[in-house]
Amino acid sequence: MRILITGKNGQLGRSIQKTVNTGTKIDNNQSPNEYIFVGREDLDLSSESSISHYFGNNEKFDLIINCAAYTQVDKAEQDAELANQINHLAVKQLASIASNQQSRLIHISTDYVFDGESNKSYLETDTPNPINAYSRTKLAGEKALQTLMPMNALVIRASWLYSEYGNNFVSTMLKLGKERDEISVVNDQMGSPTYATDLANAILEIIKNKKFRDVAQTTQIYNYSNEGEISWHEFAKEIFKLAEIDCKVSPIKAQRYPTPAKRPRNTLMKKDKIVKVFNIKISNWKSSLNTCMTILKKQQ
Ligand SMILES: NC(=O)c1ccc[n+]([C@@H]2O[C@H](COP(=O)([O-])OP(=O)(O)OC[C@H]3O[C@@H](n4cnc5c(N)ncnc54)[C@H](OP(=O)(O)O)[C@@H]3O)[C@@H](O)[C@H]2O)c1
Repeated sequence: MRILITGKNGQLGRSIQKTVNTGTKIDNNQSPNEYIFVGREDLDLSSESSISHYFGNNEKFDLIINCAAYTQVDKAEQDAELANQINHLAVKQLASIASNQQSRLIHISTDYVFDGESNKSYLETDTPNPINAYSRTKLAGEKALQTLMPMNALVIRASWLYSEYGNNFVSTMLKLGKERDEISVVNDQMGSPTYATDLANAILEIIKNKKFRDVAQTTQIYNYSNEGEISWHEFAKEIFKLAEIDCKVSPIKAQRYPTPAKRPRNTLMKKDKIVKVFNIKISNWKSSLNTCMTILKKQQ
């Protein structure tokens, strides 16, 4: 398969590159895949003409994996039009192109499509109700994709994504922990972190799977994150423990830590569907965080 991956400089894009380059997870007996990683300099998702131009000037792709997105949740409140262009209208255009070219499409979405008011873990079939601008654009992207590509696409909703690349909760905590003796972190928003390398491996497993590769499928949504149910406060404490940083983490209610964009209170998601359909094994959040922190320590 000729596979295009957008967002090559983002956390997930880089994690897929790392995983593809190590080669350990693509030991299938099928003919080797050709991976083409692309960034905004060649394919600018904020520009309809850039998207048309890119696909008009390149040979057909068998699969597009859309890892690019407008991901600045707070900034999106002020920048909703650009966020909508990238997270919704560009996805619509990609879906239309993929449909015309008879390509498959894997698109990444977010746990934040839910309002977080449930006391249970969310199923893929639960009704989304986004509570901030970023999440509204992501949901609009999902919906456009489902309308234009009723077959052969797959949406993966991830949550609390982190990696050894770029800015994320782990890198922010490591920075703050070195600067301060004490920080306050929200303890009444529950979720599950997603180590981007684990998600990259899951995507590569899905691509190998005959159910995805060989059979025409109706478009489906799948939840994905690491296993475990924690608050941001617990996440921060474990980061400091593994990094051996002596910084006190005090719990704080979200209400006392106002941000431009509201965050859902609970975005735990059930992952049984992706596990069952694609036989994906999901690690616990602590062991994956340990893996990421070990890599970060080696890089120091
Ligand atoms: N981060 C999270 O906590 C989180 C949680 C749940 C779901 N997700 C979803 O997971 C996916 C991957 O997230 P991530 O954390 O890997 O994102 P990321 O690190 O912020 O990377 C996003 C990528 O999108 C690219 N991009 C932004 N605007 C673009 C444009 N106009 N044209 C082309 N590319 C553009 C960025 O390019 P530059 O590098 O040039 O800026 C960047 O490489 C996204 O769909 C996101 O919504 C993320």
